[in-house]
Amino acid sequence: MAEQKATNVTWHDHRVSSEDREALKGHKGCVLWFTGLSGAGKSTVANTVDHKLHAIGKHTYLLDGDNIRMGLNKNLGFSAEDRTENIRRIGEVAKLFADAGLITSTAFISPYKADRDLVRALLPEGEFIEIMVEASLETCEARDPKGLYKKARAGEIKGFTGIDAPYEAPENPELVLDSNSKGIDDLADEVIAYLQAKGFLS
Ligand code: ADX
Repeated sequence: MAEQKATNVTWHDHRVSSEDREALKGHKGCVLWFTGLSGAGKSTVANTVDHKLHAIGKHTYLLDGDNIRMGLNKNLGFSAEDRTENIRRIGEVAKLFADAGLITSTAFISPYKADRDLVRALLPEGEFIEIMVEASLETCEARDPKGLYKKARAGEIKGFTGIDAPYEAPENPELVLDSNSKGIDDLADEVIAYLQAKGFLS
């Protein structure tokens, strides 16, 4: 866990609360945390969920692994330590966005259970929705949209998740999406049905 270095800092309560912001928007904020292997479809499903929610007038934001690694987290690589820091920062950012009242989707491999659990613990009960985008390594490797599995097999990329770096699947995710056999649109609808059933959309 990251230690706090700053001393002599004081928490300030703000006059506009999270509830005030939710009342203005007409729905709750939360974090849809998509996890799974590279090529499982996390970004594509998250993008579709984000788009569908936006289309029905919900306030959303999407944080995506590859994009965030070109900005906020451009100083991080793929060692276990850097992945942990990657997820910690995204967890903190997602927490702020959810507190701002946005339905916040994140699409990161987030291979370590402990890192995901730390993010869960940051958020109010029920607002961290862990979504396992399930696709077998065979499926992901056959898709290989960025050609990275091929490079990893050839030894050109070291420490690639699923090949020579671990992926720890969630034990009790709120949702499991079967990306082996179902299409993106159906998977996105499963997420939206969950949000509807749990009262996040009203
Ligand atoms: S995480 O493990 O720290 O959560 P993140 O989701 O941000 O990873 O980034 C994963 C993306 O980085 C992959 O989709 C892939 O495009 C790229 N990538 C480059 N090197 C690696 C690697 N060694 N392992 C996994 N993904 C990698």
